[in-house]
Amino acid sequence: MDRIRIVGGNELRGIIPISGAKNAALPLMIASLLTDDTLTLENVPHLADVEQLIRILGNHGADISVNGRRERQGEGYSRTVHFTSRNIVDTTAPYELVSKMRASFWVIGPLLAREGKARVSLPGGCAIGTRPVDLFIEALAALGAKIEIDGGYVEATAPEGGLIGARYTFPKVSVGATHVMMMAATLARGTTVIGNAAREPEVQDLAKCLNAMGAKISGAGTSTVTIEGVDQLSGARHRVLPDRIETGTYAMAVAMTGGDVVLEGTDAALLDTALEAIRRSGAEITSTESGIRVVRNGGGIKPVDVVTDPFPGFPTDLQAQFMGLMTKSNGISHITETIFENRFMHVQELARLGAKISLSGQTAKIEGVERLRGAPVMATDLRASVSLVIAGLAAEGETTVSRVYHLDRGFERLEEKLTRCGAVVERVSD
Ligand code: EPZ
Repeated sequence: MDRIRIVGGNELRGIIPISGAKNAALPLMIASLLTDDTLTLENVPHLADVEQLIRILGNHGADISVNGRRERQGEGYSRTVHFTSRNIVDTTAPYELVSKMRASFWVIGPLLAREGKARVSLPGGCAIGTRPVDLFIEALAALGAKIEIDGGYVEATAPEGGLIGARYTFPKVSVGATHVMMMAATLARGTTVIGNAAREPEVQDLAKCLNAMGAKISGAGTSTVTIEGVDQLSGARHRVLPDRIETGTYAMAVAMTGGDVVLEGTDAALLDTALEAIRRSGAEITSTESGIRVVRNGGGIKPVDVVTDPFPGFPTDLQAQFMGLMTKSNGISHITETIFENRFMHVQELARLGAKISLSGQTAKIEGVERLRGAPVMATDLRASVSLVIAGLAAEGETTVSRVYHLDRGFERLEEKLTRCGAVVERVSD
């Protein structure tokens, strides 16, 4: 199994191109199932999760080509991918495929809306909490679907004549359930109003793409999204928005190691809250013509408290990385996780590098230390694993991160991007 070997101590200097957002690409790819026409997505990152979803969509009958070539031939940075689901050949998403990635459960929305039925295995994904699907079930039931759970599968059937527009207010904000309800409602009869909708930029990006396909969605990016159902959707061409989590991750890496890096092709407006927290820690962040510049020259890292929250709050997907940064602050900071109940698995691994962190319920108390020392550590989930990479870059000596398949799910060419900025990072195979 591959490991990442890091020799810490170097500042980061240079340019890091930011890829298309994984968490936008996945729902956009799934939206292609809503039409028999071709949906072309530009700026699709080359990641294990994207490849896995390509396999899942193929199983439903999607024909997928990359830059005009067949899938799997395309290598390299973010690509243009064409998705055509002329016919849905199978409305079942099997356990073997869905258990590997939670977002694949979201195919339930388009399959149900287009075919009137879907049978989708209960999902898997990063082990960061219980992650139930009750909100999806309630939302689809509100649109008139009959839902049964049988043998580990959710079986959904639309009423005769298709789903029916409805008003539904989520009791809790859910990104995935908002995506699914929005997709399902595009083809429902009548108007749907989603209350307490997720406001994440990825929800806005999906709505923008669906509208380009002929949907009538307004309000995406606010807590109330209105969808007027249409009879059918057509193809479209859409560019996936930049990855705000990748952006924040590299910004935190620079804030931790020191240096001067331009994060190219991204937009500060996607992650204001996180950038503000990084600024307060002592880094300078400015918007440039091509993206964001992050500079930290000398000066210690100041302690900053953060609480994760749905957008526009501090993203849970940057919590582990920010904790990495805080391990070397010159004081005490607190990080509270409010989205997932089990998202502190990086704590014990950061401790192996010399971090001083104690947990009390959903809050971590981090006493900054002057030095971290390299050590072998283990990746436990996607964002936790990259926090270990960041900490390794700022630690003295050698750190090896094992189980890097977690990283490959969400960070395109991580070693290359960091190496180009002066870091010593390499992938080693056993
Ligand atoms: C999305 O997951 C992201 N995944 C996650 O990123 C991200 O951490 C999360 O949103 C929160 O921002 C993708 O976009 C592919 P939720 P999602 O439904 O949609 C609870 C990463 O590292 N909930 O907004 O699965 C749930 O347990 C990943 O890239 C229910 O209770 O998250 C959680 O506590 C990890 N019932 C909260 O809602 C439900 O039916 C928010 O989860 C659904 C969710």
